[in-house]
Amino acid sequence: MRHLVVVSNRVAAPNHGKGAEGGLAVALRGALKENGGLWFGWSGKVAERPSPNPHITESDRITYATVDLTESDYDEYYNGFANSVLWPLFHYRLDLMDFSRRSLNGYQRVNSLFAQRLVPLLKPDDLVWVHDYHLIPMAEQLREAGCKQRIGFFLHVPWPAVEVLLALPNHAELVRSLCAFDLIGFQTNRDLQSFMDYITVEANGKIGDGGAIEVHGRRTRAAAFPISTDPSTVAEYARKAEKSPAAQRLRRSIGERSLIIGVDRLDYSKGLINRMEAFSHLLERYPANRSQVVLLQIASPTREGVQEYDEIRHELEAISGHVNGAYADYDWVPIRYLNKGFTQRTLAGFFRLARVGLVTPLRDGMNLVAKEYVAAQSPRDPGVLVLSRFAGAAEELDGALIVNPYDTEGLADILETALTMPAGERKERWRGMMQHLRRNDITAWRKRFVAALDAAAPVQ
Ligand code: G6P
Repeated sequence: MRHLVVVSNRVAAPNHGKGAEGGLAVALRGALKENGGLWFGWSGKVAERPSPNPHITESDRITYATVDLTESDYDEYYNGFANSVLWPLFHYRLDLMDFSRRSLNGYQRVNSLFAQRLVPLLKPDDLVWVHDYHLIPMAEQLREAGCKQRIGFFLHVPWPAVEVLLALPNHAELVRSLCAFDLIGFQTNRDLQSFMDYITVEANGKIGDGGAIEVHGRRTRAAAFPISTDPSTVAEYARKAEKSPAAQRLRRSIGERSLIIGVDRLDYSKGLINRMEAFSHLLERYPANRSQVVLLQIASPTREGVQEYDEIRHELEAISGHVNGAYADYDWVPIRYLNKGFTQRTLAGFFRLARVGLVTPLRDGMNLVAKEYVAAQSPRDPGVLVLSRFAGAAEELDGALIVNPYDTEGLADILETALTMPAGERKERWRGMMQHLRRNDITAWRKRFVAALDAAAPVQ
């Protein structure tokens, strides 16, 4: 197997086997360790000047190479084009898209900077695997710098329907640059189909067997590679965490009540407002749940430099306060709303205690919380996953109760169904999903992608 090079905006710093990391970081590190590898990206630091050379560290057969961004890079590339244009657009929020030529230039500039700094580190036979919407122009930039290596791309977020993408002023250039990759991976068949529709309808391209594409004089291949979690590790964390002080404290505080859990980044795409409204409908329409059910919503703050993220935070504070004001009693608060993050281990313990996992994004590439919730359940007494049809995970997790998060009253009815579901049905639904996750874990995901990239036609 060839030497692998991973390129992503964020680089998970070497962790020396300490602490519980996210599944993606573990999987990519696993792939890099196999034959020695390089992980390249942003250092996470904002500096006065761009780094003339990447900062290099080595650990466990992996080289980490990172570059700093300047204030204007950070503002125009990360806060600007990536998170105020592509993120809202790809999540169907055209109303929040804030396009400017300045941010587009910043996006191009940082991609070009990354390519220039990466090229001297590449060996002729390397496989280069670029991740996510921050770095769509990377292959084109690397090719311009003379790079002949096979370069693959995986999009972690949704790819929008043609009509939505057309709102992006530079959609044609963006898709053309994406087609400079040798392999383009999407989360779901739905995303793949939207991309293929664009290629045929808007770009006049041709689709051949096995996702082969001919467009703009380029040949590439696109396919769906649904990302996953490591269910065995999550299950083990959950078993062990049951006895942890945090899980025991949570259990004591819940007592005989049923726990509904939501864990998300504090992002407008996650449907948190709709979720709290639905919970409020549940208490109103099914009063037997009052004093008997608790919604624990963990929402860790993210991208605080972007205005929409500050706004959603205020809206959530208002609605959770409102629901609690309307229904709380002297010995019960219906919504526990937390603005902080927890380790994977602690979360796994919390998931196991929860009768319902509530995952209701308005749009989501995959949503690994849905998969982690399933993996953390006790086989003897599993909880119920309530999952938005607009999360990529809904294409796979057919044992979940699938909901439309825009229908908050319907969601309240489904929550009632979940809370009262008999153990036999819970077990049957859970078993099918767990079997699917075991067969399609994150190691299988990264091996499938790397093998497909390795098999891509060599660059002429
Ligand atoms: C999503 C994106 C990732 C990103 C993560 C956290 O999952 O697909 O690329 O790293 O959100 O967002 P942040 O802006 O903090 O990196």
